[in-house]
Amino acid sequence: MDGVHTDGRECQAVIMSRIEAPVEDGAAADEGAAAAGDLSGRLLAGLPAEAVLTDPDVTASYANDMASFCPAGAPAVVVLPRTVEQVQHVMRVATELRVPVVPQGARTGLSGGANATDGCIVLSLTKMDRILEISPVDRIAMVEPGVINATLSHAVGEHGLYYPPDPSSWEMCTIGGNIGTASGGLCCVKYGVTAEYVLGLDVVLADGRLMSTGRRTAKGVAGYDLTRLFVGSEGSLGIVVRAVLALRPKPPQQLVLAAEFPSAAAACDAVCRIMEGGHVPSLLELMDRTTVKAVNDLAHMGLPETTEALLLAAFDTVAPAADLAAVGALCEAAGATEVVPAEDAAESELLLKARRLSLTALEAVKGTTMIDDVCVPRSRLGEMLAGVERIAATYGLTIGVCAHAGDGNTHPTVCFDAQDVDESRRARESFDEIMALGLELGGTITGEHGVGVLKKEWLAREIGPVGVEMQRAVKQAFDPLGILNPGKVL
Ligand code: LAC
Ligand code: ZN
Repeated sequence: MDGVHTDGRECQAVIMSRIEAPVEDGAAADEGAAAAGDLSGRLLAGLPAEAVLTDPDVTASYANDMASFCPAGAPAVVVLPRTVEQVQHVMRVATELRVPVVPQGARTGLSGGANATDGCIVLSLTKMDRILEISPVDRIAMVEPGVINATLSHAVGEHGLYYPPDPSSWEMCTIGGNIGTASGGLCCVKYGVTAEYVLGLDVVLADGRLMSTGRRTAKGVAGYDLTRLFVGSEGSLGIVVRAVLALRPKPPQQLVLAAEFPSAAAACDAVCRIMEGGHVPSLLELMDRTTVKAVNDLAHMGLPETTEALLLAAFDTVAPAADLAAVGALCEAAGATEVVPAEDAAESELLLKARRLSLTALEAVKGTTMIDDVCVPRSRLGEMLAGVERIAATYGLTIGVCAHAGDGNTHPTVCFDAQDVDESRRARESFDEIMALGLELGGTITGEHGVGVLKKEWLAREIGPVGVEMQRAVKQAFDPLGILNPGKVL
């Protein structure tokens, strides 16, 4: 998600107010307060007072991330450690008292993976936000988990380096959160996702022990790849307290081309032609008509609203003109009615800004959205979008689609009024049907947002019973007491 999140949080509040747990009776509440007091007392033995928040109004504000339709409980306490030792202390206390721990970054996640459970310790890593090292020779950065993605990008940029993963929320989201959900972004079509940039991790385990995985070397194959295992584990296996990230040389500023299509099918055909033609765009994004209109309504960007699908393609090579011309020709061959290369870097940036605003804009259409994240083989992208149109018609809903088209990663976004019970039900059903369609087409239920609470039932459908069993065995090995982000993923 991008930029202005206030709308999302307000909408979320509406939904949460409908699913909040009933108020406890007096005796139980007293007992709960005593237990919480004991817990915060124990935490304060290893944390400064300002790092332990217990005011219920304050802790409630840490209850959920940006996902709709995901239950969230009331945290007993929120802790904001600044050191590895403090995180270890928190986990030792949690293990001893058997209290669930929910790790959080900036809470821009879209699957409820960072939602609190009742009585939990919310472990916010946002204060551990130091960039510890940037090495141009080794082409790595070593960071704490609370570093904001954009802060890191700017910092490495000053050394002529580039940290590619760029979720739309890059100005807010944290590296720890990106690692937890294995985030993608707009550049993945050329540069790949977060997993490809995480070389090594320091992780505080459930019992407070510190484990280092991976490496800071260019190569390394010693033992099982636990680093990769942690990427996308959504805080369910351990707490990432430090990460070694791979960097690339900074490429030239990319130039974007916008192509208008008379149908989503034609735009998808263009995507296939571009990829089949061996081109390596640094970005290949699609916005359907609903999304284009929503962005114009929100931000008055002047995007062409008569078009059914807008495709953005970019190249960040030294001389992108030839590539842009070739891709423009392929778009025309696929039926594009208009192909407009950006005049300069500033115009390119504006188009990207429009794309990054997509989901915030769609949220404004009816007040609430459910954002799907189905990724299909890109050869099936056209079928996916046609299917989503069918589903929208069947349920009588507005479903806007923006997509990392070059990756086959779609975000069909169901727009609905959360106050309307029937519309909310239809939204949920259509959301599920979109995932079923994705699986039918050989895809996955989530390309980059994670499973969290939202897609828990669907994970089993995707990976099957043997897969679930082995994943549970992994969870058991790392978290035998089941205190790490319980109720998520599996
Ligand atoms: C995006 C986020 C939602 O693509 O993944 O904008
Ligand atoms: Zn996305």
